[in-house]
Amino acid sequence: MDSLSQNSSAVKFYSGENIPLELHKVRIVQKLHLVPIERRLEALYEGGFNTFQLNTTDVFLDMLTDSGTNAMSDNQLSAMMVADDAYAGSQSFIRLQKAVDDVLGKKYLLPVHQGRAAEHILGVAYVKKGSMVPMNYHFTTALAHITECGGQIAELLYPEAYKIDSDHPFKGNMNIEALEECIQKYGKENIPYIRMEASTNLIGGQPFSVQNMRDVRAIADKYGIRLVLDASLLGENAYLVTQREDEFKGKSMAEVILTFTGMADIIYFSARKLSSSRGGGICTNDIKVYKELEALVPLFEGFLTYGGISIREVEAMAVGLYETLDETMISQSPSFIKYLVEEAKKLGIPMITPPGVLGAHVDAMSFCSHIPQTEYPAGALAAAFFLISGVRGMERGSVSNQRDENGNETYADMELLRLAVPRRVFTLSQVKYVIDRLKWLYDNREMIGGLKFYYEPPVLRFFMGKLEPTSDWPQKLVAKFRADFGDSL
Ligand code: F0G
Repeated sequence: MDSLSQNSSAVKFYSGENIPLELHKVRIVQKLHLVPIERRLEALYEGGFNTFQLNTTDVFLDMLTDSGTNAMSDNQLSAMMVADDAYAGSQSFIRLQKAVDDVLGKKYLLPVHQGRAAEHILGVAYVKKGSMVPMNYHFTTALAHITECGGQIAELLYPEAYKIDSDHPFKGNMNIEALEECIQKYGKENIPYIRMEASTNLIGGQPFSVQNMRDVRAIADKYGIRLVLDASLLGENAYLVTQREDEFKGKSMAEVILTFTGMADIIYFSARKLSSSRGGGICTNDIKVYKELEALVPLFEGFLTYGGISIREVEAMAVGLYETLDETMISQSPSFIKYLVEEAKKLGIPMITPPGVLGAHVDAMSFCSHIPQTEYPAGALAAAFFLISGVRGMERGSVSNQRDENGNETYADMELLRLAVPRRVFTLSQVKYVIDRLKWLYDNREMIGGLKFYYEPPVLRFFMGKLEPTSDWPQKLVAKFRADFGDSL
C-alpha cells in the first residue's frame, strides 16, 4: 500500500466533512497582532493605501506573499547551524550544487541573491534592443528586467487563461500556435529565449502541463531557440500535474519535476519560494551557457560559491530543495487554497478558478464592479480588506502594471486581490476567519471606493507608490463595521 497519496486532502473524515488536514506539527510560533479597526485605518493612511507599506505590527494574517515567508522545517534550521562559512569553496555550496543536480537535474549552478537577480543576469547576457521574449505570462520583475535591457515581451496564453471562472486544469499553458506565429513575425534571431513560468503568478497561480512544455520544446527545437524555465513555483506546478494530468497521476514529485526540468536549457528560480529559504539560482547542463553567465555573478551578486546569499541560507536552500519532493509538504498550500476558494465560491464571492497555487485570488473587477479600472479596483479591495480584517493581501492588477514607453497607463488583464497562503504557516481556523470577513466585505462591497496615486515612482511602482481614497469611503466602512460587529477586534 505504499503508493497511497500523502497529500493534505487525502484523509477522509468520518463526518463526511471535506477539509484539508495539517500533516505537520507546529513547534515554533510567532505572536500576531490583531489591532482595532481604527488603528488599521490610520495605518492605511500612513502607508498610502498600499499594503506593501504596512508594518507587521498592524497586520494580523500576512497574506502578502509566499516569498520568504513559507515555514522552514526542523531539518532546514538544523542545517543552517552547520554551514561552512567560507568566501570561496564552501562545502555548503557543494551540498547545494548536489541538491540542484539531484532535484532539478542540472550540473552547473550559479547562485544569486534572489529570483530577480537571475532575471537581471539573463537580461544583461541575452536581451538587447529589439529583442522579443515570448512567454506564457509575465511576472513583474521578469518584465521590468527585459524592458530595462531594451527588449519586449509577448504573452501567449490561450483565451481560457483569462476566464475568471473556469475548470480548465492548465490555464498557464503556452499558446503553441501563437508561439510559432510570434517567432515567424519577429524572427528567431531576435528571440534570445522563450520563457515558461511555472504556475503563472499574475493570472492566479495557474499551472501548465507537461504536455504543453513538450510542445513548447518541440517549437524551440524547430527554430533553435533556448527554453528558459522560471521554476520559482515549480514544486506546486508539479504537484498539480500529479493531480490533474492523466499521464502523471500517481507519479512521484521527483519524476514530474525532472520531466519538466529535463526540457529546459536554462532554469532560474527564486529560492524564497521554491525552497522556503532565501536566495536564488540559475542552472543548466550547457557549459556554453554557464560560461556566458559566469562572469556576471561575481560582478553583480558575489563570489560563485555564495552569490550574495548568506551561507546559512545556502544550507537551508539545499535541504528545502529536497523537501520540495515531499508531497505532505508541497500539497499543504494548494490544499488550503482549494478550501479557501471553494468555500468563498459557495458564498458567492468571485474567485479565480480552478484554485491554483501560491494563494487564493479574488476577482476585484467583479467584486468592485462599480469601481472603474482608472481607480484601481484591486488596490481598493486590498486596502478595504485589510481595513476590515487585518488580513494583508496584495494588489495584482493595474497598480502592479508598468506604464508604456510613452508614459501611458496600461490596464491589467485581470484585477486581482491575492491572498497568499505560504506553506504550513496558517491554520484552518485562520483561513475560516479570512472567508468570514471576505463575505462581510462582499455583502458591503458597494461601500468600497476608488484610489488615486499621489506618489508614483517610475519603476515597479506598486512597491513604493502611495495612493489615497477618492472619497471618505474608508471612514464609512469603519462605521458600518462597528455597527455590525460592536466592539469586536
Ligand atoms: N518569478 C516568479 C514566478 C515569482 O513569483 C517571483 C517573485 C520572481 C520570479 C522573483 O523572485 O522575489 O526572489 O526576486 N514573486 C514574489 C511574489 C515577489 O510575491 O509573488 P524574487
